[in-house]
Amino acid sequence: MKLVAVMLSVLSSTAIAATGLQQVLGTHPEQSQPNFIFVITDDQDLELDSVKYTPLIQTHLQSKGTFFKNHFVTTALCCPSRVSLWTGQQAHNTNVTDVSPPYGGYPKFVDRGFNENFLPVWLQDAGYNTFYTGKLFNTHTVENYNQPHVNGFNGSDFLLDPFTYSYLNSTYQRNHEPPVSYEGRHTTEVITEKALGFLNDGLVAEQPFFLVIAPIAPHANIDGGALHGGGAPTVMTEPIPLDRHRHLFKDVRVPRTDHFNPVEPNGVSWVRDLPRQDQSTVAYNDHFYRQRLRALQGVDELVDTLVTRLEESDQLDNTYIIYTSDNGYHIGQHRLPPGKACGFEEDIRVPFFIRGPGIPQGRVQEAVTTHIDIAPTLFELAGIPLRDDFDGTPMPIAPNSNSTRHEHVTVEYWGHAYLEGLKGSIDNSPVVANNTYKSIRLIGDGFDLYYSVWCTNEHELYDLTTDPYQINNLYDKQDVYSPLIHKYGLSQIVSRLDSLLLVLKSCKGRTCIKPWDVLHRHGTVVSLRDALHAEYDAFYNFQPKVAFDRCELGQILDAEGPQEPLVYRDGLSWDVWT
Ligand SMILES: *[C@@H]1O[C@H](CO)[C@@H](O)[C@H](O)[C@H]1NC(C)=O
Ligand SMILES: *[C@@H]1O[C@H](CO)[C@@H](O)[C@H](O)[C@H]1NC(C)=O
Ligand SMILES: *[C@@H]1O[C@H](CO)[C@@H](O)[C@H](O)[C@H]1NC(C)=O
Ligand SMILES: *[C@@H]1O[C@H](CO)[C@@H](O)[C@H](O)[C@H]1NC(C)=O
Ligand SMILES: *[C@@H]1O[C@H](CO)[C@@H](O)[C@H](O)[C@H]1NC(C)=O
Repeated sequence: MKLVAVMLSVLSSTAIAATGLQQVLGTHPEQSQPNFIFVITDDQDLELDSVKYTPLIQTHLQSKGTFFKNHFVTTALCCPSRVSLWTGQQAHNTNVTDVSPPYGGYPKFVDRGFNENFLPVWLQDAGYNTFYTGKLFNTHTVENYNQPHVNGFNGSDFLLDPFTYSYLNSTYQRNHEPPVSYEGRHTTEVITEKALGFLNDGLVAEQPFFLVIAPIAPHANIDGGALHGGGAPTVMTEPIPLDRHRHLFKDVRVPRTDHFNPVEPNGVSWVRDLPRQDQSTVAYNDHFYRQRLRALQGVDELVDTLVTRLEESDQLDNTYIIYTSDNGYHIGQHRLPPGKACGFEEDIRVPFFIRGPGIPQGRVQEAVTTHIDIAPTLFELAGIPLRDDFDGTPMPIAPNSNSTRHEHVTVEYWGHAYLEGLKGSIDNSPVVANNTYKSIRLIGDGFDLYYSVWCTNEHELYDLTTDPYQINNLYDKQDVYSPLIHKYGLSQIVSRLDSLLLVLKSCKGRTCIKPWDVLHRHGTVVSLRDALHAEYDAFYNFQPKVAFDRCELGQILDAEGPQEPLVYRDGLSWDVWT
């Protein structure tokens, strides 16, 4: 491995730029497929108001595009979430479920064959020039980056571990060249230069382009290469903003909602056992929160720079700009130290904005959508036939979209939760065991629910209509009293959600999109409300229940309980699903 320290000005030229320069800059009347610019931040929340502090993103993307307000990730952890996004498959189908081997990371992505079979490869096959800069996956390192090189990009410049999250000492690796250290330069400034270089390459070529920009902000800072062995513990400290943004937001604090550092603990056992945070911890977490908002300012400016460049080149009208994050984030809610990995709203809900040809401006879209839907969405916008192995369906974006709408999000997680920040630890450990669970987030037809089953066989049921902060676990209250959700008893609701989860936790392709069709073959049931019909009570009570035999750190099927649901035939009989 050779690390070259460089003083660089502007990076840009590749072979593509060289040929493209002979053409008129940025005018392609013959081009019919649209361009895509995809900005994906790291650990950016929607629920803690981060977008409120990025005015340029509001102006360019929210006002000039559509905001998907019910957009969710399916696994609230960087690497599994990103692999799902770029393959269009749930993590139980990719089996990339963690940030490092044996269950995840770049090596697992390669082992599973996805390096030959993921979105950039498919887009190249469809005639796109593809570019990527920033973080791709975890455990994509200064040592394994060429074993093999990432496929599918005409131009790439990846952040590499163990320097990915080092805001002031990052390492990038361009095309097939050796890694380069940017010691002393701010990572967002570096990625802005690289993004502009690739944008220019894309603009001058004849083909349409797909450009991904994946800055690490507002992820925690990690220095010292601890992710890469060496025995030192990984310390995840507050993010580091660009100098010019250091002074901002002095009076801003984490929103003091009902679930912020609550007097009464709540959640499953490991969350419920967290101590209430003392004053100095709360003050530190407020500081951590402000550093996230400050670190995002560089991304806000990056978006502005991209839009300006597109305007200058006359390509803005033929380019979709998409903005989202790999997963959300919590700070202090339910007493949690900074982090993700939970199924709470803060962790699974992320910003999603899209602007471009035909996209309504200033619109708020309520449809439930997920990261699994993004690859199908890009296919539809580019006019490529959908793949059968997509677990998602196009988001309702294109005017005549063929999207299949549904109420559910399948949320899944295996392994550890990580407690971030200088004060994030339990018994001096920043790692929490047994954070393996399967859940459903369901919004539709008057319902707003979250249901989860943990590897410890603990359960949660929150009714977000009356309990938006997920404080009151109704599952534990079934025996104590019987609150109704609409006119239905808790046990009726739980039996339906559990069966739906039984289908979704191992779904594939169509069964992920239309899970009720597995339980009711004649298409008579398409929603929770349909399934709640009293004639189905006996059927749902009789179903095998979602359960775990033990907690594993990855997807070990024989630890994951029943897999096959029964199928409704008539009021008194049912079939084994085959
Ligand atoms: C981009 O890469 C693909 C796959 O290697 C190749 O077919 C295509 O010609 C490249 N585009 C340009 C402009 O070189
Ligand atoms: C920055 O990273 C390089 C490796 O890329 C390392 O050699 C150097 O020690 C680091 N500098 C600091 C200040 O940690
Ligand atoms: C929807 O599907 C029909 C038939 O399969 C196809 O002709 C049409 O182009 C599709 N619409 C979009 C927006 O992809
Ligand atoms: C994790 O779950 C296993 C059972 O699968 C149990 O033996 C172990 O004690 C649990 N560990 C913690 C820290 O709760
Ligand atoms: C997922 O990967 C792990 C690690 O390689 C393996 O042990 C497990 O059997 C795989 N699970 C499935 C369902 O393929």
